[in-house]
Amino acid sequence: MHPNVHLLDHSLIARAVTVLRDRNTSVVEFRAHVRAVARGLAFQATQRLPLVPVEVETPLANTTGAQLRDSVIAAPILRAGLGMLDGFLDVLPDAITGFIGMKRDDETLEPYECYRNISDLTNAHLFLLDPMLATGGSARAAMRSLPLDRAASHSLLAIIAAPEGIAATLAEFPSLQIYVAAVDERLNEIGYIVPGLGDAGDRLCHTL
Ligand code: PRP
Ligand code: URA
Repeated sequence: MHPNVHLLDHSLIARAVTVLRDRNTSVVEFRAHVRAVARGLAFQATQRLPLVPVEVETPLANTTGAQLRDSVIAAPILRAGLGMLDGFLDVLPDAITGFIGMKRDDETLEPYECYRNISDLTNAHLFLLDPMLATGGSARAAMRSLPLDRAASHSLLAIIAAPEGIAATLAEFPSLQIYVAAVDERLNEIGYIVPGLGDAGDRLCHTL
């Protein structure tokens, strides 16, 4: 495994990914488990964020605690990434949010951007959220127009990734950190991850 790829190794995450893979999982369960996996990925991806000391007054005494040094931006790639946002915010409720809308053309698999509203990345830690990293085209297109060199760090949180998508994405963005719950076997001829979980956006949005 490439050193920038961090596989979330946790019994409950393995179980949750299995629920997500199951074609018979209801939309209610699917949404709940995407949120739960996103929460786990968020904990892992933020584990080493730099801290600075802060004085805090408890009911009993003054003590030194810790607060984050830098701002954090959680940016779902629409649509499907939106399903991960609440899980990230469960872990860091005051994160700044940004939004990037990408849609894969079903014929060419080429993504096109349809929405963007994201604040200044300067000195911020950017966490892009997208449950599926398939060809990597959507994530790469989303990052291409971002001034990533100004950010303190940039990471992608995905639930399932294909080896092809990881390789293409890290080839273009070698500083990116990828946090993922499962790395699957391959892509099929229409760019779906196998075994995967199907179309994450449709399953989350109940538009199957
Ligand atoms: C899906 C998924 C990713 C992308 C992954 O989005 O949510 O964004 O495909 O594939 P890639 O790595 O080959 O680009 P889709 O374009 O289906 O849009 P949606 O989220 O609106 O369903
Ligand atoms: N997008 C999805 O939602 N699923 C895949 O398997 C590939 C791209």
